[in-house]
Amino acid sequence: MIRFTNVCMMFHGRPVLKDFTMEVPSGHTVVILGGSGGGKTTVLRLILGLLRPDSGSIRVDGREIVGLPERNMVAIRAHMAMVFQGSALFDSLTVRENVGYRLYEEQSLPDDAIERKIVESLCFVGLEDTLEKMPAELSGGMRKRVAIARALACSPEVILYDEPTAGLDPINTHLINELICRLQKEECLTQVVVTHDLDTAYRVADRLIMIHRGEKLFDGTLDMLKTADDPRIRTFLRPHEILATPGCFPDKDGGIRVVAPTMDEETPA
Ligand SMILES: Nc1ncnc2c1ncn2[C@@H]1O[C@H](COP(=O)(O)OP(=O)(O)OP(=O)(O)O)[C@@H](O)[C@H]1O
Ligand SMILES: [Mg+2]
Repeated sequence: MIRFTNVCMMFHGRPVLKDFTMEVPSGHTVVILGGSGGGKTTVLRLILGLLRPDSGSIRVDGREIVGLPERNMVAIRAHMAMVFQGSALFDSLTVRENVGYRLYEEQSLPDDAIERKIVESLCFVGLEDTLEKMPAELSGGMRKRVAIARALACSPEVILYDEPTAGLDPINTHLINELICRLQKEECLTQVVVTHDLDTAYRVADRLIMIHRGEKLFDGTLDMLKTADDPRIRTFLRPHEILATPGCFPDKDGGIRVVAPTMDEETPA
């Protein structure tokens, strides 16, 4: 279980997360949705203990991580893996070396066990035939799947995904979504998926949280999200429908501004 309670985070005096509270129960997949700059990646970096909040509490499996010395954080981080925005594979290493990188660094398993883990993880994502390839030889979708294999190789309990389907075509998006669903169902992993891709959000989420400019706008199920009244949520989910309405424009807060037609304007049929 990951629990944020009243977390506030500032960058250069500017609030980026405001009184943010959330729970990610063990074995569940929680999606964090929101527009650019809303604070989604910041939440993932706080879970990993890479950032410290200005105030509030962050608990991982009941243990407070705010203020925890780095040497103790390392042990907590060992149960987590992150799939970075853009995959973040090492260009000069083969797929085998990328997937096994953390295990070779940690040296907690013998080499043959590491090799088995690498192959198992690549089999899970359907890329066992790419072991000796370089990242540059792979498509964007394949690189994302290698990044998931790399996360899996460390046998994590928690996987954090930052925009796992950004820039992918519908088929690759579908493949990644299915992998995320299988990891929950078959491996009972706890997952936090940051995305602004609604197909991914709708497919993988047990629960969804929407952040807007550092504030939590929504926390609930998909059905609740789809029927939410907040204009900022409606605009995010259905921009074409809302903004195509005559007289509706996006406002600076991510909501909608309704402008009454003037006498000179044609009245829509
Ligand atoms: N290290 C940093 N130093 C200063 N400002 C930062 C830092 N990291 C993030 N920010 C700012 O905090 C805000 C939230 O950033 P964050 O990366 O969490 O947003 P995001 O929701 O992940 O956006 P995107 O969808 O574009 O990835 C942004 O305004 C960003 O400029
Ligand atoms: Mg981000």
